[in-house]
Amino acid sequence: MNPRRKMWIFHGANSSVRLSSTWTQWCLRYAAVLSLLCSPVRTDDACPYSCVCARDSGTVTCRDGEDTEVPGDIPEWTSSLILRGRNISTLQRGAFMSNGSELDMTILSLSYNGIQAIEPYAFLGLPRLRLLDLSHNQLELISSRAFHGLPDLRSLYLNNSVLPSAAAQLSEALDTQTLQNLHRLELAGNRLRSIPMLRLDIYNLHALVLVNNSIESIGWENVTNLYQQTRLRVYLALNPFRCNCGLEAFYYWLKNSSQCADSGHLLCSEPEAKRGVPVEMLRGDDVDCMNENLEAVSYVFLGLVLALIGLVFLMVLYLNRGGIKRWLNNIRDACRDQMEVYHYRYEQDSDPRLANVAV
Ligand SMILES: *[C@@H]1O[C@H](CO)[C@@H](O)[C@H](O)[C@H]1NC(C)=O
Ligand SMILES: *[C@@H]1O[C@H](CO)[C@@H](O)[C@H](O)[C@H]1NC(C)=O
Ligand SMILES: *[C@@H]1O[C@H](CO)[C@@H](O)[C@H](O)[C@H]1NC(C)=O
Ligand SMILES: *[C@@H]1O[C@H](CO)[C@@H](O)[C@H](O)[C@H]1NC(C)=O
Ligand SMILES: *[C@@H]1O[C@H](CO)[C@@H](O)[C@H](O)[C@H]1NC(C)=O
Ligand SMILES: *[C@@H]1O[C@H](CO)[C@@H](O)[C@H](O)[C@H]1NC(C)=O
Repeated sequence: MNPRRKMWIFHGANSSVRLSSTWTQWCLRYAAVLSLLCSPVRTDDACPYSCVCARDSGTVTCRDGEDTEVPGDIPEWTSSLILRGRNISTLQRGAFMSNGSELDMTILSLSYNGIQAIEPYAFLGLPRLRLLDLSHNQLELISSRAFHGLPDLRSLYLNNSVLPSAAAQLSEALDTQTLQNLHRLELAGNRLRSIPMLRLDIYNLHALVLVNNSIESIGWENVTNLYQQTRLRVYLALNPFRCNCGLEAFYYWLKNSSQCADSGHLLCSEPEAKRGVPVEMLRGDDVDCMNENLEAVSYVFLGLVLALIGLVFLMVLYLNRGGIKRWLNNIRDACRDQMEVYHYRYEQDSDPRLANVAV
């Protein structure tokens, strides 16, 4: 029950002042009528506990309360609800249903609430919602049916909110036909390594913000899908692009589609030699897989040729082993003869008596 809802308690009956019985009866009846009028009926001016309500603009703002839940008594006239700085760990099914009925709310801002989990159908009962801001939370559990029942949603902000372990769950959750009117999806600062969407043709996307993530490259399959979304503008600054031949399809998309709205700000982070170089400023050769492959192929080819030459050399040696043996023998014989001649001469020269005898 709402703690602020006023309870009318009649104190008159046991009053110390003695009154005539008719007066008491009249008072009792009056109090009964009053309590009937006031107690269970929700007043239109009700504003949830610890929130500020601006009826004119239809805005309800609830900041930094100690509450760990979504207020249960959101006024029917609310068009914008801003909850911030609360410790809401889980958004439960139908968390924004006001006493079981739908709300005409169009803007729901839930940034900085420490939200960790979104349960299935958490946003049930908000059929007119156009903007949902879930930035700066710590989402680690996102149901695949988290965003069901939001047919009018145009902007979804999830900046700095999705933990790396929940990236795959996010893809599943976004893969729903009910987001068919989604115009703008912001996913900055989530350490994402790829576009967290399985397909792009189920939305009506005009802006996809992926700045400050961990995207190193976008493959040709995704590039093909991007080309098909002619209205779409993609923002990709502050990602660590790996500028090798894997970037080829993306490089040409960047060069000739003009779909990347911040293309001038994309920088290479690898390889070392190209760090800080704008991706746009690369030459076709830098991302040419043919080139890179040719280089690799030529090294392999050179190695093969060298190996072949070595093999031929060994083969020649082997086939000629008879001749080589003979040749070696000849050399040895020649050496021996030579040695013998020397030996003989030495013996002759070294004995002076023999020399004298000879003379
Ligand atoms: C948030 O609430 C949870 C329990 O629901 C508690 O464990 C946690 O310490 C709270 N965090 C903060 C910052 O208040
Ligand atoms: C809440 O809804 C129930 C029926 O669903 C109704 O009886 C009750 O009066 C409603 N309370 C308020 C405050 O609207
Ligand atoms: C999300 O990011 C966009 C642009 O990067 C910004 O306009 C928007 O205000 C951000 N939202 C929050 C809640 O920080
Ligand atoms: C990038 O995102 C990280 C969180 O992933 C955040 O801490 C950092 O401030 C962001 N940097 C910029 C320049 O927005
Ligand atoms: C991006 O590519 C991956 C695999 O390469 C694929 O699973 C995914 O559906 C693609 N997403 C888009 C939006 O093209
Ligand atoms: C875009 O780049 C590709 C290279 O893959 C090229 O074949 C194509 O002609 C280019 N398109 C335009 C419109 O320049």
